[in-house]
Amino acid sequence: MWSPALLLVLSAIILPASTAIVKEGSTCIVTPISDTPAAVALRSIGAVPPTERDLNPEDNPYSVSKPGMPGSLGHYPRPEPGSSSFQNQPISRPRSQPLTLKDNPLEPRQNRPDDTPQILSAFSQCGKDGTIIFREGTYHIRQVMDTTDLRNVSIEIHGTFVWSDDNLSYWRQNSFGVTYAGRQTAWRIGGRDIAMRGFGKALFDGNGQTWIDLARGQGNLNGRPISLTVWHGTNVLIDGITWRMAQFWHTFIAYSQNVTMTNLDMVTFSTNGQSSVNTDGTNTWNSRDITISNWTVKCGDDCIGVKGNSTNVHVSNVVCHESGAMTIGSIGSNSGQPDYVENVVFENITAVHSSNAAWIKTYPGTGHVRNITFRNIQFEDVNQPIYVTSCICQPNNTNNNTPLGTDSYQNCDSSRLPISDVRWENITGTSRYNVAVGIHCSASAPCDGFHFSNIDIKPKNGGTAKVLCSNIKNQASSGLQCTGPCPGSHPQQLSGNV
Ligand SMILES: *[C@@H]1O[C@H](CO)[C@@H](O)[C@H](O)[C@H]1NC(C)=O
Ligand SMILES: *[C@@H]1O[C@H](CO)[C@@H](O)[C@H](O)[C@H]1NC(C)=O
Ligand SMILES: *[C@@H]1O[C@H](CO)[C@@H](O)[C@H](O)[C@H]1NC(C)=O
Ligand SMILES: *[C@@H]1O[C@H](CO)[C@@H](O)[C@H](O)[C@H]1NC(C)=O
Ligand SMILES: *[C@@H]1O[C@H](CO)[C@@H](O)[C@H](O)[C@H]1NC(C)=O
Ligand SMILES: *[C@@H]1O[C@H](CO)[C@@H](O)[C@H](O)[C@H]1NC(C)=O
Ligand SMILES: *[C@@H]1O[C@H](CO)[C@@H](O)[C@H](O)[C@H]1NC(C)=O
Ligand SMILES: *[C@@H]1O[C@H](CO)[C@@H](O)[C@H](O)[C@H]1NC(C)=O
Ligand SMILES: *[C@@H]1O[C@H](CO)[C@@H](O)[C@H](O)[C@H]1NC(C)=O
Repeated sequence: MWSPALLLVLSAIILPASTAIVKEGSTCIVTPISDTPAAVALRSIGAVPPTERDLNPEDNPYSVSKPGMPGSLGHYPRPEPGSSSFQNQPISRPRSQPLTLKDNPLEPRQNRPDDTPQILSAFSQCGKDGTIIFREGTYHIRQVMDTTDLRNVSIEIHGTFVWSDDNLSYWRQNSFGVTYAGRQTAWRIGGRDIAMRGFGKALFDGNGQTWIDLARGQGNLNGRPISLTVWHGTNVLIDGITWRMAQFWHTFIAYSQNVTMTNLDMVTFSTNGQSSVNTDGTNTWNSRDITISNWTVKCGDDCIGVKGNSTNVHVSNVVCHESGAMTIGSIGSNSGQPDYVENVVFENITAVHSSNAAWIKTYPGTGHVRNITFRNIQFEDVNQPIYVTSCICQPNNTNNNTPLGTDSYQNCDSSRLPISDVRWENITGTSRYNVAVGIHCSASAPCDGFHFSNIDIKPKNGGTAKVLCSNIKNQASSGLQCTGPCPGSHPQQLSGNV
């Protein structure tokens, strides 16, 4: 009889895992470790029950939350009381193959394959003037990845990347910082002239339900990693990738220039009733010349967020479900640092059952928001379709028992962060309640250069919609027929007619 230990040693010697990379010229071709003969042999060895998942926040150095950090107040859409339509919706996965090792309860943890070393090896061998091809199959990622020194590389992904969820402490302790609000990421990609293509076949599975359960509605749980961050990248293309159940935000674009992200499909939505806040589709920050096109996103938080120091951002042909849809902000959270957002176009956007459609949210901070266009936005069942607030996340009542987003706000008139030259053109659809527009600009820095045309928003249950506005310069010639003021205390999320 072969002993399992001997088999393990033999298989490692005879069939080393490194056979999974084949290098031909400047091209690295990678096969999942678990598909190599060595791995198949390893898998047949042991039958040890899995260790308990490391899900106890008490063991965790990061268990203290930081209320008031950007986005920590959820703004996910709320179901109608008594409606079950937006929870427990099945998450469709594009493939039938098993996505995680949880599917094999007898697999011992220590024998679980880890493709991270060979993925990193492929990046170091072929990440400059080269091509990296990930063949079909499932790649298990059990370690953080920092691939930020790339140059003239084509990354072609035909398989599934699954991020492990049996040691969340590992990810929380080791994910890379991305500066913004103390957030972290599991994978940073950067350098120059990078194309990452998934051909509609690449699937990134972050095991997000485990993270949603751990966070228990506290979206900004420290160390909860962004799936993929473009970090100090120039001339970057990301195309044709599907995400299912990302750990936190699906993507983030920071300190980057000329980034194009097209044909992406993202679904991260809790299946068990815990809210899936902070699962944004993407956020841009300290970046310029960004093109986002042809996305479908269902996420429970902002779909596309344009954050501080973003310039020249063009977003088109995006369909968002259960989200905050198109968002400028949140910005201005750090009173010592100005945030500038300029030259942003959102066009040909659809928002379904979402909290907002065209939204600008700032803290009472410094900087400016200038030259923004929302054009051809159609939506159905959106809580507050057009919403502008100068005092996001400034609740008077920080009691955690207050339902998310229903607080009233303070310092709304002290913000020195002007919002100007914003156009809303051809904005049509249904609001959940009787409010089409809520705009509260700061009295200290009134909004200027607001223009509205072809706004047609009807409450889904009939009647006419209110248009609430405060502190808009030249309001009479803005094209908007305001029906009344919008108090600073106007809630971020409505829960009924006002
Ligand atoms: C980019 O890399 C390819 C090899 O993948 C090489 O043929 C080409 O010359 C490189 N381009 C530049 C500008 O160096
Ligand atoms: C989880 O990761 C932490 C941090 O890297 C490590 O110290 C610990 O041994 C790991 N636990 C298990 C059960 O793998
Ligand atoms: C921007 O990046 C794309 C690749 O995504 C590249 O084709 C294009 O030349 C770059 N534009 C500039 C101005 O460098
Ligand atoms: C967007 O999708 C449409 C329809 O599938 C396709 O024709 C178009 O080429 C895509 N645009 C980009 C930039 O990939
Ligand atoms: C935004 O850019 C300004 C000016 O370049 C800089 O002072 C500020 O620190 C930046 N803000 C952030 C949050 O990085
Ligand atoms: C406003 O933004 C648009 C789109 O990015 C750009 O084409 C235009 O030049 C900008 N206008 C000004 C005055 O900067
Ligand atoms: C947006 O839709 C309009 C009207 O259908 C069309 O003319 C325009 O080309 C579209 N823009 C983009 C960037 O797809
Ligand atoms: C208005 O937007 C809708 C989509 O939301 C689009 O179908 C229509 O062509 C747009 N109208 C004009 C005049 O661009
Ligand atoms: C918030 O609290 C301040 C001081 O406690 C009070 O003056 C203000 O009216 C409150 N604002 C709202 C919107 O309730």
